[in-house]
Amino acid sequence: MKKKLIAGNWKMNGSLAANDLLVRALVAGLPDPSGCDVAVAVPAPYLAQVQALVAGSPLALAAQDVSQHESGAYTGEISAAMLREFGVRYALVGHSERRQYHGETDVHVAVKTQRALAAGLTPIVCVGETLAEREAGHTEAAVRRQLASVIHLNGHCISEVVVAYEPVWAIGTGKTASPEQAQQVHAVLRAQLAAASPRPESIRLLYGGSMNAANAAQLLAQPDIDGGLVGGASLKAEDFQQIIAAAQ
Ligand code: 13P
Repeated sequence: MKKKLIAGNWKMNGSLAANDLLVRALVAGLPDPSGCDVAVAVPAPYLAQVQALVAGSPLALAAQDVSQHESGAYTGEISAAMLREFGVRYALVGHSERRQYHGETDVHVAVKTQRALAAGLTPIVCVGETLAEREAGHTEAAVRRQLASVIHLNGHCISEVVVAYEPVWAIGTGKTASPEQAQQVHAVLRAQLAAASPRPESIRLLYGGSMNAANAAQLLAQPDIDGGLVGGASLKAEDFQQIIAAAQ
């Protein structure tokens, strides 16, 4: 039976003091045994701090991005191998904020996904339509195009990847996709995955976009929603714990 995955994306938030409090509370409050996997994607400077805090616990460490390059003269970049050295298990790839503010294209996303897999990281590939795309009736085409860029991987199988559906209009806006809207897109993604994987049902499809303690249970009850990628609500231990509880 596939375990759900609840991943917190802290984005550019945190401090040594705040991280210490938050991660200690999460580690202490994790159900044991946990019926779901849990990870936190922290800003890169805090990887070592959080690695030490989660040591020996089931809380997994994630990065928010990974370089498309292996190593070398790429100022400011962080390689997949470096992330591995800090015990990182998952790396977000192609988050809409990277696509929107840092010019990441489907091609970058595909290369980063390969880099992550080659280094033994599990990429969490983010896809999602903008409000304009949804209003124009292009939701399905937008997410299918984004997923298509990673569906055929050299030497790896798409089943090694986690996919996160994050409608851009739902991110940080308090406007969550309804469980039916989210399920509809997840079913489209699942069908697309079926073309590339013999076991498409084994691939975890997360929903992200204003997931919170109040709406998590309904979203997670949908047949094709296998977890959550949580922004704002992952910064508050109690809220994140309630989402984890909803995934048990
Ligand atoms: P919010 O939960 O703050 O809407 O952010 C979602 C997200 O972008 C997670 O990656």
